[in-house]
Amino acid sequence: MSVLEKVTSTDAIALENKYGAHNYHPLPVVLNRGEGVYVWDVEGKKYYDFLSAYSAVNQGHCHPKIVGAMTAQAQTLTLTSRAFYNDKLGVYEEYITKYFGFDKVLPMNTGAEAVETALKLCRKWAYEKKGISENEAQIIVCEGNFHGRTTTIISFSNDENARKNFGPYTAGFIRIPYDDIEALEKAIKSSKNIAGFLVEPIQGEAGVYVPSEGYLAKAKSLCEDNNVLFIADEVQTGIARTGSLLAVCGNCSCEKQCEKQPTYVAPDILILGKALSGGAYPVSAVLANDAIMNVIKPGQHGSTFGGNPIAAAVAIAALDVVTEEKLAVNARRLGKLFRSELAKYIETSNIATLVRGKGLLNAVVINDTEESDTAWNICMALRDNGLLAKPTHGNIIRFAPPLVMNEEQLLDCVSIIIKTLKQFEN
Ligand SMILES: Cc1ncc(COP(=O)(O)O)c(C=O)c1O
Repeated sequence: MSVLEKVTSTDAIALENKYGAHNYHPLPVVLNRGEGVYVWDVEGKKYYDFLSAYSAVNQGHCHPKIVGAMTAQAQTLTLTSRAFYNDKLGVYEEYITKYFGFDKVLPMNTGAEAVETALKLCRKWAYEKKGISENEAQIIVCEGNFHGRTTTIISFSNDENARKNFGPYTAGFIRIPYDDIEALEKAIKSSKNIAGFLVEPIQGEAGVYVPSEGYLAKAKSLCEDNNVLFIADEVQTGIARTGSLLAVCGNCSCEKQCEKQPTYVAPDILILGKALSGGAYPVSAVLANDAIMNVIKPGQHGSTFGGNPIAAAVAIAALDVVTEEKLAVNARRLGKLFRSELAKYIETSNIATLVRGKGLLNAVVINDTEESDTAWNICMALRDNGLLAKPTHGNIIRFAPPLVMNEEQLLDCVSIIIKTLKQFEN
């Protein structure tokens, strides 16, 4: 088939099945256009996007400001590698560090790479600053975590599907239950070799688990008291998704993370990805203050594409959009509306049992087992009704639309979701 030929949905799926590795199980819909909160399939059918590429497209599909910055930079200078300086990286580094209130940034490309970077940074800090003996550092992680797909990251996952037959595994991690402050205290006090605590402020892939009020603040203070780095993975929760600039901002919906907010739980290391580019380009970042970041010296870590001029231009535009369009405030307001409308329906539903989440990162729990295919079947029916969402488990559907959605669109989506759920009631 010529690359210039227009493919039908059936052709496109057949091509992926034949020539692509089967490492995903996509919903059968073939998209070829996106604008704001909408996407279109190759046959021209329009859908609401209620996944946002796993929270990467927070600013909406093909945002003109982001696309404009990307195309302008693509026509000027694309890649220099870090062998040379370029005129965009420093400007971006100043912008992002001031935006999030850290001394320094280490630019990478994907979320998993940024998590790897944070883990390496934490270990190096532990040996060179905390005085842990070489190769003895331990990092605490949580059950149900999802931090990406590298060998080290899957080593501390408890998802058998992600781990099995990918060993031998990387050592140096202690897994404790999520949202369990006593377990964290016990683990921190169990050894003098604890270097860091890596945590998602809300567990997204696990099914949108929001920890109890005060958990993150208590975790941070335990870390601080014991000279352990508090590492927040905000690859999915960050950049306005949960109704604050970062989920660690707590109950503040302004567009700037700021130390002055009493609810702000300051991470020692902050990991960002996905919406840092509005989904236009792979851009991730690790932010920390000098006392931590300066342990990395030339030649010790890097990436050919990390910090390239397109990434820098795109990320500045993407963060500008978050501020200019007040996306955190919108996510917070529409998220409340989404949960309250669905909760009303759930009171009398026998197919949906719960809606939970924060801002516009939400999940609906289906009255069936984790192994069932009910959530999948509901997502197929949602597709037929013009809305795209994806299960995180057999009985959990995540709902995460672009944050540029308006109230009328959200209410339209709520009625599609309720109408579809009703088709599954018995
Ligand atoms: C919390 C979290 N960390 C890391 C990642 C990995 O990001 P990437 O897929 O860009 O490697 C994800 C992806 O879903 C994530 O949700």
